[in-house]
Amino acid sequence: MFIRSIHLENFRNYGRLDLDVGPSVNIFYGDNAQGKTNLVEGIYVASSIASHRTSKDSDLIKFGENEYKTSLDLQDDDGALLSLSACYYTEKSALSRSNRIGRVLLRDNAPVEKISEYIGVCNIVIFAPEDLNIVKNAPAFRRKFLNTLISKISPSYFNLLSNYSRLLSQKNALLKNIRGGNGISSSIDQQLDFWDFSLADVSAEIILKRYKFSKLISDIASKHHRSISGGKENLAIEYSTIFGATGALETFLNENSKYDEYISKGLTGADYGRIKGILSDLVLAKLKSVREYDIDKHISSSGIHRDDIIIKLDGMPMKNFSSQGQQRTAALALKLAELEIIKMYVSSTPVLILDDVFSELDKTRRLSLVSAMKGAQIFITCTDKNMIGEEIDLMQEAGARKAVFYRVSGGVIEAE
Ligand SMILES: Nc1ncnc2c1ncn2[C@@H]1O[C@H](COP(=O)(O)OP(=O)(O)OP(=O)(O)O)[C@@H](O)[C@H]1O
Ligand SMILES: [Mg+2]
Repeated sequence: MFIRSIHLENFRNYGRLDLDVGPSVNIFYGDNAQGKTNLVEGIYVASSIASHRTSKDSDLIKFGENEYKTSLDLQDDDGALLSLSACYYTEKSALSRSNRIGRVLLRDNAPVEKISEYIGVCNIVIFAPEDLNIVKNAPAFRRKFLNTLISKISPSYFNLLSNYSRLLSQKNALLKNIRGGNGISSSIDQQLDFWDFSLADVSAEIILKRYKFSKLISDIASKHHRSISGGKENLAIEYSTIFGATGALETFLNENSKYDEYISKGLTGADYGRIKGILSDLVLAKLKSVREYDIDKHISSSGIHRDDIIIKLDGMPMKNFSSQGQQRTAALALKLAELEIIKMYVSSTPVLILDDVFSELDKTRRLSLVSAMKGAQIFITCTDKNMIGEEIDLMQEAGARKAVFYRVSGGVIEAE
């Protein structure tokens, strides 16, 4: 799959952009604050819906405007053409063709109702300075990393996440409205039972996916990490969820000799039913044990919405103990693992975006990145095109076609 052209309307500092791009290496250079990151963000939003920088769609709308539109014209590996558009309309939008407020997704100009049918169509992996957040920032950044990766290869996982967040907001709405006093009525207790039961059921399926992909990420990222760091340190990822769940899952897999089957193709039939039952019982017990507290505080204090992945270097959690350089190497290893896992599961080669990353990496790390990019369409942003000559030579040695350069200035892009 590769992108043939990019179209942006009222997106960040672009009023309107219609740009044809090359099938191999595309380099966007220009001074600071000209629109390089905005362009690649536009590409990422059109393919993956979410921005890598903000969770607020309204931030993406050009100042003073009421809606944005991003589109990609694509060509798949068999030569077939298709297009994807992700638009966002606010209440003030006059142009909204569907009169809808919020996000509208189109595939070949026809509305797509289910996000899960949209996000896997054109896979893009983005390497950006924000990747450092995965290692050093709050759990939400690591959940986003894990959720994005799994959703790209498994539309059913995306649907599970949507179900979970819908159930959770319904339960939270109920919790908000419960007034204290002399205990709660049995009708409210029954309603909470219903939400907890439904949440536990979906949670079990999410835990099964998250544990498996955490294992895969750990194996592959530690391999990349060893080669980048010269084998000096050992990187590992541990999935952290409802107390007792990973232990119960490991016991089940060991006792039934199912680990390899679970990792390679996933459990099915009676095995799936049994482990899902064990996990949902654990989640349900946890939710019940915090019910009084949650009623008192009007929140859902426990659940898989609080999950994390613990990134460890030589057995120590990186968040608390690592240096900047170690964090950067770990972030790069995690993103290279993302790329490799997507390649394992998806037949078409993902498109790669490298937003201002070369300047932050030393030579070994730059080479690791370049060697992972074979055969892909690549978008690179930088401030000085002369600073990445060596990387471009290496990409061309690895088979990339001639690089195309674009100058970015004040929201206008000119091909050289
Ligand atoms: N919603 C928006 N509407 C209009 N302009 C915006 C919006 N959001 C950001 N900008 C502006 O877009 C400009 C370009 O931002 P961008 O992040 O793309 O810069 P860049 O070329 O990547 O620069 P750098 O080299 O510093 O990374 C900035 O001046 C920023 O303030
Ligand atoms: Mg930038």
